[in-house]
Amino acid sequence: MAVPKEIIEKYNKLVDLLNKYDYYYYVLDRPLVSDAEYDELKRQLKEIEEKYPEIIRPDSPTQRVGGKVAEGFKEAPHRVPMLSLENAMNESELRQWLRKIKDQFPEALFCAEPKFDGTSLELVYENGILIRAITRGDGTKGEDVTANARTIRTIPLKLMTDNPPPRIDVRGEVLISRKDFEELNEQLMREGGRTFANPRNAAAGSLRQLDPSITAKRRLTFIAWGVGYYEGIEFETQCQILDTLDGFGFKTSNPRKLCREIEEVIEYYREMEEKRDSFDYEMDGIVVKVAQLDIQEKLGATSHHPRWAIAGKFKPVERTTQVVDVVYQVGRTGIITPVAILKPVEVGGVIVSRVSLHNFDQVKQMDIRVGDWVYVRRAGDVIPEITAVIKERRPPDAKPIEPPDRCPVCGGPVVKEGAYLKCINMACPAKQAGQLEYMAKVLEIEGLGESTANALVKHGLVKDPADLFALKPQDIMKLPGYATRSATKLYEQIQKAKKMPLDKFITILGIPGVGKETAKLLAQKFKTLENFLNATESDLLSIKGIGYQLAKNILTFIRNPENRRVIEKMLKNGVEVLPMEEEKEEVRESPFAGKKVVFTGELEKLTRSQAKKIVESLGAKVTGSVSRSTDMVIVGKNPGRKYRDAQRYGVRIVPEEEFYEMLKEAGVEV
Ligand code: IVH
Repeated sequence: MAVPKEIIEKYNKLVDLLNKYDYYYYVLDRPLVSDAEYDELKRQLKEIEEKYPEIIRPDSPTQRVGGKVAEGFKEAPHRVPMLSLENAMNESELRQWLRKIKDQFPEALFCAEPKFDGTSLELVYENGILIRAITRGDGTKGEDVTANARTIRTIPLKLMTDNPPPRIDVRGEVLISRKDFEELNEQLMREGGRTFANPRNAAAGSLRQLDPSITAKRRLTFIAWGVGYYEGIEFETQCQILDTLDGFGFKTSNPRKLCREIEEVIEYYREMEEKRDSFDYEMDGIVVKVAQLDIQEKLGATSHHPRWAIAGKFKPVERTTQVVDVVYQVGRTGIITPVAILKPVEVGGVIVSRVSLHNFDQVKQMDIRVGDWVYVRRAGDVIPEITAVIKERRPPDAKPIEPPDRCPVCGGPVVKEGAYLKCINMACPAKQAGQLEYMAKVLEIEGLGESTANALVKHGLVKDPADLFALKPQDIMKLPGYATRSATKLYEQIQKAKKMPLDKFITILGIPGVGKETAKLLAQKFKTLENFLNATESDLLSIKGIGYQLAKNILTFIRNPENRRVIEKMLKNGVEVLPMEEEKEEVRESPFAGKKVVFTGELEKLTRSQAKKIVESLGAKVTGSVSRSTDMVIVGKNPGRKYRDAQRYGVRIVPEEEFYEMLKEAGVEV
């Protein structure tokens, strides 16, 4: 029985409408309808398809998932070989290449595009319909991953044109965003599976899943950067190709720039490297292509790469290197952290020779051994980390990393607390030195870093935190590397630090769980040291933000006679605790009052610590990382990961100029 005409009409309308909504949502990132409305239309579509399966269109949104689990991938040829790119490893190599082209073809223009780091894919469209998707493979033939490619929402199943060419092969990059990569790895880790070393591997691995329903869950995207074979359509320039692909419904390489002069390309290269962390997808360089296709043809290609294009690589954020040793660091709280010593390697512009392995649970989970080859990454403003072990390169004599059964510094007993191993010897010199270094940081005592702290403890000059305040220049001069002038300088710094507000005094005590923020809450509540030392459990629990465990830690600490002795000794050694001032009225009126604020990037007019002090004085709480409860992220030049996190969580983003305006509003002119 024929399908009623009205049904076919309604069906066609629904498919077109849903495809349009998908395009706005996935490609343009500008949703047109609510989820509820979309779901309702999709329900109607499914109802028709169930009743009349014979009219299902291949470009219906329901046809994206549903492929069967394959046993393997079929091989498929590329009609035009998929070549690779020649690399320029730095600005001068890039400039050289551009010069060479200009010498040969002074009229050459350059199309400069981002080089997003994923896995390349060719999509074959016949009469506007996606018929095949092929991985790059060896360049002449790849794997047929059509069922998987169909699940990627930014790949049009049908080109958005009424007049499609008989055939066009669209090429581009399959990518996973940094955020989705991290979430995927977290999930794989929870499930006990193997994690991916980087977003590129995650994209490639997800595209090559034998079960398309797994690919569908991976939130991949496709960004088109060119074409292979085509017929029935003409192009004159690379820009025109990308503009046409935009019109066909693809996401394309963006932001791109048409450059006339070499210097314009260089400017673009610098700008992209500077901004690389602000993109959702990892970028490992730019690609520069001669824009005019007739010049491209004249330049031709080697068997490996075209002569009309080059990749201008950025400094790598990921390298492989070898773990040569492991050492154990003991912090001020006694936590023993395994640290991998690496064969030095440059990652993202800095030499990395040691990375924290965080804790022994992580060592076990990743199965890192001394001798292993590992991936080291340093993305954005993040400290370097090992993301994966290359098990295939493990030498036969690689040595497992075992947790020590005694403290590696004092030989004292250790206990396991959650994922952490802790030294519980109160007199452990590593703990004392760590505590000293922490005090110096809180009190802003310049020149008292890790090595001086260690030396003070080692020479027996500081046995408890109070000893710091009794040091004389002649004591300090006993330390290696100190002479009269430097010792006097440090002495003066210490004298200056003796006068401190109550919150800082509470912070430097090192009460477990009490950092700067909690110390501030305590100081605001108790106002004087005496009140604080006489606090009761109910006093503490009446403070918002302090729970039972923390209250218990605080009480145990302040009631411990040894700690009371050290506190008395500090006062005797000249420490003066200033009572907390009452909060000023205008604080509550500032746009920062009670707000959780995060800074990222460099500010032009203020240092980070000046800016922090100002907003804190206006009632804000400044934190080091972005979470859903952050109120605003103030963004300077070269912002890092925190900027992306702000976008991810939908936290208000305040550009630098606006920040100064807000300060002005609050009466602070900078
Ligand atoms: S053009 C004939 N443009 O980089 C060469 N490639 O390292 C065609 N890539 O295999 C490549 N972004 O997978 C081109 N805007 C872009 C690109 C890009 C990323 C990838 C591509 C290529 C690899 C070479």
